Amino acid sequence: MAYVDDFPTDARIVRWNMGVAFLALGIGGLLGMVQALHRTGYFRGFVSSTDYYTVLTTHGVLLALVFTTFALCGLFTWGVTRSLDRPLPNPTFSMAWFGLMLLGSLVTAVTILGGFVESIPLSADVLYTFYAPMQAHPAFYVGLVLFIVGSWLAGVDWFRTYWQWRADNPDERIPLQTFMVLTTMLMWYISSAGVAIEVIFFLLPWSLGLIQQVDPLLTRTLFWYFGHPVVYFWLMPAYFIWYTVLPKLSGGRLFSDPLARVVFVLFLLLSTPVGFHHQYVDPGIPEGFKFIAMTNTMFLLLPSLLTAFTVVASMEHGARQRGGEGRLGWLRKLPWDEPAFAGCALAGLMFAAGGFSGMINAGMNINYLIHNTLWVPGHFHLTVGTASALTFMAAGYWLFPQITGKRLRFKSLATIQPYLWFVGMTLMSNAMHRAGLASVPRRTAEPQYDAVSFEGVVGGISEMRLQIAIGGTLLFLALVLFLIVIFGTWFSGRSADPIQVSSAIPAPLSGPEHSPKILDNLKLWTAVAILLIVLAYGLPLWAMASDGLLAPGTPPI
Ligand code: HEM
Ligand code: CU
Repeated sequence: MAYVDDFPTDARIVRWNMGVAFLALGIGGLLGMVQALHRTGYFRGFVSSTDYYTVLTTHGVLLALVFTTFALCGLFTWGVTRSLDRPLPNPTFSMAWFGLMLLGSLVTAVTILGGFVESIPLSADVLYTFYAPMQAHPAFYVGLVLFIVGSWLAGVDWFRTYWQWRADNPDERIPLQTFMVLTTMLMWYISSAGVAIEVIFFLLPWSLGLIQQVDPLLTRTLFWYFGHPVVYFWLMPAYFIWYTVLPKLSGGRLFSDPLARVVFVLFLLLSTPVGFHHQYVDPGIPEGFKFIAMTNTMFLLLPSLLTAFTVVASMEHGARQRGGEGRLGWLRKLPWDEPAFAGCALAGLMFAAGGFSGMINAGMNINYLIHNTLWVPGHFHLTVGTASALTFMAAGYWLFPQITGKRLRFKSLATIQPYLWFVGMTLMSNAMHRAGLASVPRRTAEPQYDAVSFEGVVGGISEMRLQIAIGGTLLFLALVLFLIVIFGTWFSGRSADPIQVSSAIPAPLSGPEHSPKILDNLKLWTAVAILLIVLAYGLPLWAMASDGLLAPGTPPI
């Protein structure tokens, strides 16, 4: 029996969330290609350079916020109901949070797109980081609030399902997928509170004219308090797939359940007290606190390294089950022609490269070298732009048959799609990193670096530009293939013989019986997470607030 037969209502919720996510991905990706061609000067016919920020804001908001969050909601709804083997308690409530998120996204998107039309007063060219001193039309912030509140209610839905299950199963360990969902959402509640305060108490009243000024440093700090953990909100659902689905796709079993739990607890603890690493060049934050953020960031590498170990070990186990041998020869036995597997594995590989450039970003001193250059988008197109995005697409290949009851269509397109994405991203991201080292800025419609040649690398600026343009175009082509497969599957007829896809996941090699019970003590870890945040943020925030919440500047601590 497919998931859709067991949980028809939940399958619909998963489908709609994933559907909206992938639509946003398609539109955002088209704009990505527009940017890549525009910045590099190959084709500027789509938009004028004065509209570039409207395009860039739409790209950032649709991809980094809308696509990722809807995909997470689809995956997590599936994971909770599947692993607890019970539906979400109240379909009306589920549709309410989905509807609220959708309404918020639409209001936000329409407000941004208003920037294209001069005759209407809507506009929000504030980029997806939207902090002061840039100001958007109030509707932009209202949309954001609806969206975030919707995501909070989605979390409530998963917690309620868990509590009901707990009432029936008082002594059992939290099933791994649900454990991952709950820890992710706890991290999300703690961190998105920062951006909610920023928007509701400062940016929205300011854009409505109710208050005359805000403290840019305070609002930026509130933004980045949320702005780093949000990257884990993008990544944790990818990890969720890598830990629980990828081992099965490789033909094996998860190597270690306890390690997976440790990793998610570490994310809950460490995701938030690191936000100052986005503010290394901001004045008004004491160096010592920036140093604490850097140290925590480096600790945050640990769960990712543990993940690399556990996931590769699980894949190796799978490959050996399939007859793989030798120190590296087992790699050949992995199902590289299965799009779901290939997408996840290539996404993981790119994430490793993204982790390395992330270490450069995180270093307080070398950060100055790449700050606000094209290196930074080069970095995060490997992380959120591939580790998350390609994993969600791969998960789509695996999930859509289960949640629609239909066979995957256009399998040959699906088979080449992850590779096309991989090649496109290798070209675009590598060239972006190198251009950043040559000081080419990000967020610029016409970076005028034509004459500059960069000693010490093959080619020069023009060669990097060409790679960005080709890479960006290949990426968009890969997206088109993906959308044909997914929507083609969704809207195809259901074949007479019901397909037998099992969403069962084999037990880990080392199961929950080996993981200490304390790992499931979510109250304890939430308390420790809050304590760490108070240590990292308490004094600097106090100093920013103590001269008046709306007064720019900060007295020294
Ligand atoms: C920025 C291209 C997919 C998230 C950019 C920029 C380019 C680009 C060229 C830099 C613009 C600039 O700084 O001037 C593309 C292409 C894509 C793609 C061609 C695939 C077709 C994605 C995906 C995500 C993403 C899948 C996330 C899930 C972002 C974000 C920015 C960005 C957050 C920064 C926006 C800002 O600076 O405010 N993209 N991208 N992109 N991209 Fe993409
Ligand atoms: Cu960060």
